[in-house]
Amino acid sequence: MPANDSTRLLADVLQPGSPLLALGHRIEIDGYAFVPAVEMRPLLAPPDGLADWNEFTASWDDLQPDTYLPDGHRYRRRRHATLSVKAGSQECRLEPHAAHYQSLDYNPLVGGIERWFEPIRREIVDGPSLRCVLAFCCHLFGALRPDTDWHIECHQFRIEARRDAPGSPTPEGVHRDGVDFVLVLLIRRTNIESGTTSVHDLAGNALGSFTLTTPFDAALVDDARVKHGVTAVEAIDPSQAAYRDVLVVSFRARRPERSAGQA
Ligand SMILES: [Fe+2]
Repeated sequence: MPANDSTRLLADVLQPGSPLLALGHRIEIDGYAFVPAVEMRPLLAPPDGLADWNEFTASWDDLQPDTYLPDGHRYRRRRHATLSVKAGSQECRLEPHAAHYQSLDYNPLVGGIERWFEPIRREIVDGPSLRCVLAFCCHLFGALRPDTDWHIECHQFRIEARRDAPGSPTPEGVHRDGVDFVLVLLIRRTNIESGTTSVHDLAGNALGSFTLTTPFDAALVDDARVKHGVTAVEAIDPSQAAYRDVLVVSFRARRPERSAGQA
């Protein structure tokens, strides 16, 4: 069931008959959507909007180890950026670099502390590819939740599968991120198998599952209504580098009484 009676608003905001309107309706009804690359790529218009796509994807080769994982694990690399945008706008403003914070309720594994990660490089933040993805999010999430100012966090993630250990994209298990909406965009899979995304209602009942396999494959979740998790990735050829690269973008309604660094 839709989270609220915003269907009229969605149709008012988005062009009738447009793919974005259909996608918004799917999220309203199901609480999530898997969008295959063939559908997702055209949604990241304009045609020249991904002019730096090669540099954008290559920047995943320069992520830094996530040292907060317990038990000395080092299979996750990442960078992080915080932005904001006013209701109705697609002009996202980069905010001062801040910690990523999740409460223990949302992340019992490494929540409850400020986690500081290296910033996403400025030329990547300002580049057309990330701006194109952000504009898409502003358009879609802004239509689903009109009149909302947003706190945005962008995460570049690389999960490595090593000879002696698979890598877990969601070591905290099936979870909510503690935001309003989340986009997970596949950047690249190299020499890995598995990494299947599952979506669950808040009681834990499975709603669906899919695997992001092709660059531009995307998962969209209404984080207040559904949980998500991803199975560990394993190397196909353990003698070779094996990794899964994704961009995660979260949108949370800004609450003036809270600091910009909290999620
Ligand atoms: Fe998540």
